[in-house]
Amino acid sequence: MRFSAFVFDAYGTLFDVHSAVRRHAAEIGPEGQVLSEVWRAKQLEYSWVGTLMDEHADFWTLTERALDFAFRKVPAANPAVKQKLLDAYWHLDCYPEVPGVLSALKAGGARLSILSNGSRAMIEAALRSSALDTMVDDVLSADMAGKFKTHPAVYELATTALRAYPDTISFQSSNRWDIAGATRYGFRTVWINRSNQPDEYLEQPPQLILPSLEGLLTAR
Ligand code: LAC
Repeated sequence: MRFSAFVFDAYGTLFDVHSAVRRHAAEIGPEGQVLSEVWRAKQLEYSWVGTLMDEHADFWTLTERALDFAFRKVPAANPAVKQKLLDAYWHLDCYPEVPGVLSALKAGGARLSILSNGSRAMIEAALRSSALDTMVDDVLSADMAGKFKTHPAVYELATTALRAYPDTISFQSSNRWDIAGATRYGFRTVWINRSNQPDEYLEQPPQLILPSLEGLLTAR
């Protein structure tokens, strides 16, 4: 089957979440990588815990809270950089193949959507700063569901917006937990395993595993 609707996760899939810390690595000091990993891990944990206890705060708020925690957890990292890291999160680098792949899919007539836990403002700012905004047809934020992935109500935003059955939509994410939720919901799922992680969530396998988005052009 050839797919004509492609839905992309944002953070980790299109945008490199660790590029914020990398940009200010010299100022942060040698603990930069640990800081970045704690920041990301806590941001995600807060999203899941919030959804489980039925209390939704937007992803930006969680991103700020997670960075506060990360600086407390990694005291060797220079906290004077905090505001610069938060600012950088609005302009994260996209992965190098992203513009070419999105424009080729678009040229082939595909509809391209983003489905992210990020707030609409965050996603739109990141798309604009990588000049991807003109290629994307829909920006779907988990805020519209008042819950975060992996709650099915978030994946449902895509089937509702596209007026399509889940198995006609190709969903791409580099986050294996997100692929689990999307597979369970019924999408055709493509795990972009950028850092060669071992597989998990074996009950909800992706239909395709690619090292980057590039393979989408031949595998569609
Ligand atoms: C996203 C994060 C969670 O939904 O990667 O974009």
